[in-house]
Amino acid sequence: MQHVILFDAMLHLDSPTEAARWCSAQRDHGRTIGFVPTMGALHSGHLSLVTRACNENTACCASIFINPLQFEDAEDYDAYPRDTESDLALLKSHGCDMVFMGSLHQFFPEISDINEIKTLSAGPHGSGLEGQFRPGHLDGVTTIVERLFRTVGAARVYFGEKDFQQTLVVSDLARDMGYPEVVVCPTVREDSGLALSSRNVLLSTDEKTRAQRIYPALLAARDAWSSGERDPGRLSAIMMECLSLDGLVVEYAEVRDPGHWISEPQATPLEHAQALIAVRVGSVRLIDNLRLDQ
Ligand code: PAF
Repeated sequence: MQHVILFDAMLHLDSPTEAARWCSAQRDHGRTIGFVPTMGALHSGHLSLVTRACNENTACCASIFINPLQFEDAEDYDAYPRDTESDLALLKSHGCDMVFMGSLHQFFPEISDINEIKTLSAGPHGSGLEGQFRPGHLDGVTTIVERLFRTVGAARVYFGEKDFQQTLVVSDLARDMGYPEVVVCPTVREDSGLALSSRNVLLSTDEKTRAQRIYPALLAARDAWSSGERDPGRLSAIMMECLSLDGLVVEYAEVRDPGHWISEPQATPLEHAQALIAVRVGSVRLIDNLRLDQ
């Protein structure tokens, strides 16, 4: 049985069907919806998306769903931080009107065995980097985001730039689905420069100190770009040098032209450039990125 919990002024729905009904009623009342999809464990980065969605629309909704389809291994899924109580309080205090959750089965009601869910392809922007180091991850993201888009219906949707490749993939999906607008919001950082991530709570103090090397590596690439360096290989080497530290395992530190994602190798010299890094610190995987040419 579906139940509805009124969380003071914020509605908390535990089924996508109920959420779809609420969203449709908002549109019937002439409201525009700003939608923030999340996996919970909310931090100030997520909350900046909620604030923006509230400011730019007349109704704001969020989803909290830890999507098993985008985790390559069960351990990573189990370790993903969860704090629903705090999430609900934060969403409410930031002006969210409705939050919904759901089970995998509720998102895919037509499939009786959830192991048989066929993932959608992330498309051309799914190739390389995350596509290489987390095979299937961006396909899993695409598969759930398509369901989330269908649940919410026409809405402006807000994503954080920290997951840069994800923003390219979901922008393609939104365009293909006729979704009104994907709004990509700036990465929020700690004073140290470390990008906020739900996974940061899993870092020990030592690991966090190591993770704080990521941002200076991105800045070093940007400095080199400002001094005229346009060779992706040399920019990558500059970042690798900054990241060479015991206990920091670099998966990639690369520069790509976001407008020509799939041309491999990247055409040189680059006209536009996004530096992207993925590292493992202990058991925690972190990603970050920075535009170099702005
Ligand atoms: O960025 C995330 O938190 C997730 O990938 C998303 C977009 C909510 C899909 O599960």
